[in-house]
Amino acid sequence: MYVPPKIVTNKDLEPLVGTTDEWVRERTGIEQRHWVEGEVGASDLAYEASQAALDSAGLKAEDLDFIIFATLSPDYPFPGSGCLLQAKLGVPGIPTLDVRNQCSGFVYALAIADQFIRAGTYDRILVVGAEVQSTGLDLSPRGRNIAVLFGDGAGAVVLQATEGDHGILSTHLHADGRYAKELWLEDPGSRKRPRLTHEMIDSGSIYPKMNGREVFRHALIRFPEVIREGLEANGLTPDDVALVIPHQANQRITDAVAERLGLHDRVFSNIAKYGNTTGASIPIALHEAVQQGRIREGDIVVLAAFGAGFAWASAVIRW
Ligand code: UT7
Repeated sequence: MYVPPKIVTNKDLEPLVGTTDEWVRERTGIEQRHWVEGEVGASDLAYEASQAALDSAGLKAEDLDFIIFATLSPDYPFPGSGCLLQAKLGVPGIPTLDVRNQCSGFVYALAIADQFIRAGTYDRILVVGAEVQSTGLDLSPRGRNIAVLFGDGAGAVVLQATEGDHGILSTHLHADGRYAKELWLEDPGSRKRPRLTHEMIDSGSIYPKMNGREVFRHALIRFPEVIREGLEANGLTPDDVALVIPHQANQRITDAVAERLGLHDRVFSNIAKYGNTTGASIPIALHEAVQQGRIREGDIVVLAAFGAGFAWASAVIRW
């Protein structure tokens, strides 16, 4: 994982967006987040996390067959950040793919990688989730419900073909586009002529918008549902789970998921330190869970995500 060095506390945001440290802690569990400074894009954060993943796997970028990059905050509208990361890693020629599934992007990316490996097409795939949210937030009172949530960061894994009963057991992907506008960034987009206008900037349509309560309500249903779906597909129950690593959206959502599945302290959380890093939150949490010794060989680990789209997903892993 990698997060930029600059820490922004809730107190730092108080004078900007008209919030309070108490409100943010109570409503979300967030205490601070990391934000980039200067011109830093998602591919820059991804590069650091990818190098760390390669180092920890004892591999070099030349060993990779494919790069899958989950982000809702690509460096540029095009080309994808996967291409930029590939150039930074110095491995021209191997394919790259950007996945645009927001908070569920990393689990979607993992599912794609898993299928390519199962099919025998590729042996080693870098899957990275990286976001720079801070440069796209409305840092005025108008944007406070969103600005306090998001953080910047990246996490990466290297997947490798393996024999035996460990690894990714199954992945489960869902979406419901009827709710696309409950959490979205409207402008600039291809429907508009021109794509970017002064009016868009003035009206704030260039900033993400969320119907927080509606998203929250669906999250409370979809997280437990997609975790159960993954467990049932493998003949498992919540009792078999060593750790659930959910997308870090809100501590209240994480607590409710733990409660509804009877998992208690077996749901990982680090939202207090990083806020919601969207596509990066699961690989960052996975890294910290491993570092903290929360995952042991043979453990059943479930990754689960819900977010914009709406899109939601889970992955069941035997470590
Ligand atoms: O990662 C993708 C998935 N995202 C999620 O799952 C997020 C799901 N939603 C949430 O986490 C919560 O809905 C939020 C944290 C975004 C908001 O919490 P909430 O308890 O649903 O608050 P609310 O939007 O219903 O607003 C309650 C009050 C409002 O004031 P009034 O109308 O009651 O006077 C808001 O204006 O809190 C106010 N408020 C704030 N006050 C201080 C909203 N944002 C802030 C803020 N600071 N930052």
